[in-house]
Amino acid sequence: MRLKHLISPLDLTVDAVDEIIDLGLKIMKNPHKYAHICEGKKLATLFYEPSTRTRLSFEAAMLNLGGQVLGFSSADASSAAKGESVADTIRVISSYADICAMRHPKEGAPMVASLYSSIPIINAGDGGHNHPTQTLTDLITIKKLMGRLNHITIGLCGDLKFGRTVHSLINALVRYQKVRFVLISPKELTIPDYLRKDVLDAGKVKYTETDDLESYLPELDILYMTRVQRERFFNEEDYIRLKDSFILDAAKMQLAKERMFVMHPLPRVNEIASEVDNDPRAVYFLQAKMGVYVRMALIMHLLTLDTIPIS
Ligand code: NCD
Repeated sequence: MRLKHLISPLDLTVDAVDEIIDLGLKIMKNPHKYAHICEGKKLATLFYEPSTRTRLSFEAAMLNLGGQVLGFSSADASSAAKGESVADTIRVISSYADICAMRHPKEGAPMVASLYSSIPIINAGDGGHNHPTQTLTDLITIKKLMGRLNHITIGLCGDLKFGRTVHSLINALVRYQKVRFVLISPKELTIPDYLRKDVLDAGKVKYTETDDLESYLPELDILYMTRVQRERFFNEEDYIRLKDSFILDAAKMQLAKERMFVMHPLPRVNEIASEVDNDPRAVYFLQAKMGVYVRMALIMHLLTLDTIPIS
């Protein structure tokens, strides 16, 4: 039985993740070979929360495959503003499109949609919970740059409490051998308890929690910076106090290995100074580009078009 929806990063087996990444890398080399594979197919992008990269990279991915796209980019522009439930919306969209990417501020909304949908649902970010396609983007970038997903020391820095990209990436990376995590955040923004207990401790994964970026920087193969998630805070004062806890600049980069890579799911606010952009170790714009190739591979996988031989 093939997977129908992608709601959590764990919905894909490690083998399936590896296949999608390998297909994404193949597409990157020869994109023209895949330019017609989704002809006649439609992707619906239902975005109830702001997005630039995720929505547009999904749309670019479907257009690159020869398919078409439809959808909305804010809840206000949809019948959600009139009180329609996600369940009703998806029942209808199922007859308009072949596959759907959904972003929603409420944790679990794409999962609910999947219960009522007859087309594959992809979670494009649900509240502070999961963001599995950003994780695929992160994994394909690491694989391309390092040639492996195992034996790495990765520092995750910033808002580890509300950052859904971090939650999904931890869940995905613990399935590879010898991945060590350095979790760098202010005390108020450490990872949720369920990740610490049920994922890291239960899996006997090596990790350190710290608020000291400089001390750990020299050990890292990858530094994954994140934005403090203003929209998930209960009060503005806390956000203002914590928003600039970590700022990566050229001086700090001198502490890092020559082969360390700086990643960021973007958008960035202040957490990476623009002077770092010119450092060859800054790979966040490449990462955003890789998101298109891996989403092309994912769409093919969910529509079971990845079994068609491509010469
Ligand atoms: C992230 C998200 O939406 O969670 N952005 C993205 O999808 N590339 C990270 C963020 O908003 O900080």
